[in-house]
Amino acid sequence: MAGTKALPIHELPSSGPRGVANGALDADRDSSYSGVVMSLPSPQDPLATATDSSPRWLATCPEDTKDVLANELLSLGVAEQRPLYRGVAFEASLETGYRAHLFLRTASRIQRIVADLPASTAAELEAAAAAVRWPTWLRPDRPFTITPVLTDAASRSLGEAAVATALSNAIARGFAQSAAPAPRYAPDSEATYLVTLVAHLRAGICTLGLDTAGRALHKRGWRLPGHPAVLKETLAAAVLLLAGYDGSEPLLDPMCGSGTLVIEGAYIALGKAPLIHRGKDDFGFEHHAGFDRALWRKVSDQARAAKRQAPPAPLFASDIRPAFVELARKTALRARVERHIAFSTSAFQDISPPAPRGLLVANLPYGERIGRGETGALYRDVGRVLRERFSGWRAALLVPAEAPREALGLRPRREIPLMNGALEVQLLLVGE
Ligand SMILES: C[S@@+](CC[C@H](N)C(=O)[O-])C[C@H]1O[C@@H](n2cnc3c(N)ncnc32)[C@H](O)[C@@H]1O
Repeated sequence: MAGTKALPIHELPSSGPRGVANGALDADRDSSYSGVVMSLPSPQDPLATATDSSPRWLATCPEDTKDVLANELLSLGVAEQRPLYRGVAFEASLETGYRAHLFLRTASRIQRIVADLPASTAAELEAAAAAVRWPTWLRPDRPFTITPVLTDAASRSLGEAAVATALSNAIARGFAQSAAPAPRYAPDSEATYLVTLVAHLRAGICTLGLDTAGRALHKRGWRLPGHPAVLKETLAAAVLLLAGYDGSEPLLDPMCGSGTLVIEGAYIALGKAPLIHRGKDDFGFEHHAGFDRALWRKVSDQARAAKRQAPPAPLFASDIRPAFVELARKTALRARVERHIAFSTSAFQDISPPAPRGLLVANLPYGERIGRGETGALYRDVGRVLRERFSGWRAALLVPAEAPREALGLRPRREIPLMNGALEVQLLLVGE
């Protein structure tokens, strides 16, 4: 990763078992933090406050798309970054941190790091955590919960319950010392605006992070139900960015389903912030003590003003099923990009290129969904149509690892393994 610098967080094994992290949950799942592995050289910042000059952040993502996320951070001007397993730690001002929440297309979640604390025992952790200036982080009127992530044998021997108890006691003590009213600790609560403190333990160190995303960042606010095989928005954006799409060439998704790829494509082409339509109070940081509403408004206004009025090149989407084309159109309308996309109903076999050159992107149907016999025939058709009619185009095809790839008859210049939920897939990049 070019341009990265050392941060207090140790470099970790930057690759690990695909889909598994220390037997933990899939980090790409909505509420999970457990895939990220952190390792810290020594305890530090026990007296950190939310107004310290160099805020530390952690953006999480699937391991396979970490380099894409790192590049996105670089584009936001974040040079101080460090790759972790399933995440990128970075230092950035509050303003850049807010901007990251609006603009990162491939991050699953973001945390603001509060402190690194010694945690060989629960008592040691409680004593260190009690010294954190909690009133600068937590608001008395927002209940909070604690998510322990124990990633090695020593921390697992402490147990999740003991870690959560140590931290909730410490927070109560911290507020008592400052004579400020304490927020309610609400484990298992479904309370609105619940604030989540992630306690990541490894090698006797606890890294505390406040979840600043709120809901997972693939939840852009425009998804509609109605398609059985949608791509996650963050994966769709990663596919486009891995294919080198920047909006300057025509884009076509001839198997658009609910439209995820072409909608994310329109956002890229417009320079539109993917999270800009989230509602007020939707981000976690809006419920933290250090929330700077004026700064957040400024960053949001700047993001709106930076959007182009029209994409530099056209976008096209079609599907064989009229109901899916209608769903994609409605979804694009909710995402406020419908007028920038030309939708049509067509079998891929009948399609002609809408421009002499461009990027064709497609998430091909999976065997189990359309029947194995049909898959080979469809893949042969896709390869034939691409070779015969799309010679000036590049293609980015997302196919299951098990798919009959040879039936395509294409020679990809790059094959990138990715996870689509629990399914192993390959992104095949064809043509220069
Ligand atoms: C895996 S889904 C795409 C999902 C989409 N990426 C999304 O996020 O909603 C594959 C789509 O290909 C469409 N499809 C299947 N065979 C097709 C064909 N011969 N021509 C055009 N579309 C086809 C299906 O109707 C389905 O919507």
